[in-house]
Amino acid sequence: MHAHSFSASYALMICAAGLAVSLSGCRSLPPSKPASDWTPQEARGAQVYQAKCARCHYPTTTHGLNGAGLQALTKLKAMPSGAPPTDERLTNVILHGRGMMPATQVADEQLDDLLAYLHTL
Ligand code: HEC
Repeated sequence: MHAHSFSASYALMICAAGLAVSLSGCRSLPPSKPASDWTPQEARGAQVYQAKCARCHYPTTTHGLNGAGLQALTKLKAMPSGAPPTDERLTNVILHGRGMMPATQVADEQLDDLLAYLHTL
């Protein structure tokens, strides 16, 4: 019943733990766009993310769940693999998977929404 607040405080906790290890951790990342400022497309993308990605990736930290947290993903020079976070590369990872990440089935429109959302992180 408290699942949501539990995962939120858990994410905060590991974020804080990361900070203790490396002060440059959470603080140096550019902030995510707040949900209140999302466009309708970004809000739809957030739903796609919840349905297809959230079980493996935290959106609000770079700390790992099954895969790396995706905060600031598109604002960084490189993704964990070293590849630049271009829409083309993200589309490829989403549609075809990578390593332990399974391919995700999404309609073209959902994919556009999802990419728009990933840019808010
Ligand atoms: C079942 C768990 C799982 C799901 C679901 C999942 N991922 Fe992943 N993801 C992973 C793992 C594990 C990796 C690390 C893969 C590797 O590099 O070996 C990864 C890697 C990534 C990367 C980094 C790619 C790189 O080049 O470093 C991105 C971006 C990503 N996932 C985005 C997404 C998005 C967006 C979704 C939803 C459409 C998603 N993932 C769904 C597990 C998952």
